[in-house]
Amino acid sequence: MTPDQVKAIQGSFTKVVPIAEQAAALFYGRLFEIAPEVKPLFRGDMTEQGRKLMATLGVVVNGLGNLESILPAASALAKRHVDYGVKAGDYAPVGAALLWTLERGLGKDWTPDLAAAWGAAYAVLSDYMIAEAYGRREAAE
Ligand code: HEM
Repeated sequence: MTPDQVKAIQGSFTKVVPIAEQAAALFYGRLFEIAPEVKPLFRGDMTEQGRKLMATLGVVVNGLGNLESILPAASALAKRHVDYGVKAGDYAPVGAALLWTLERGLGKDWTPDLAAAWGAAYAVLSDYMIAEAYGRREAAE
């Protein structure tokens, strides 16, 4: 992730914040369409879950310029996800649903460069979370 990519992600996320609730609903709708097997893992209220997801994404996006600052929280989050029943392989459809949601939420502001930046950021974060939660071997697969 280059400094320009970090700036592009942060700029685009400010446009998602005002539509966070709709974005979260779009995201889970898409996720359950492409990965129906993860639906039973979500037991709580989905509006509340959507709020938590968007709030945490905000923290991550703000911390992208200083990754070390968010890694301890990302590690703990990843380990809690093991208890939720999440598998390493579930990170890929979640990433795909996230990018799909951003594309729809941002409309004409969604450019190939921005897609590459978000893809790189999710790859860095999810590789790290998978490695922390399941070990380095699965992350490399
Ligand atoms: C960048 C990646 C992710 C972020 C930022 C994220 C964020 C969160 C947050 C903030 C929570 C609230 C509970 C807590 O803080 O422990 C949560 C819960 C949860 N997440 Fe994630 N998550 C990510 C990846 C995933 C993936 C890959 C899955 C796989 C399906 C997943 C499924 C769940 C489930 C099942 C819960 C618990 C829901 C419940 O209790 O009903 N998450 N997530």
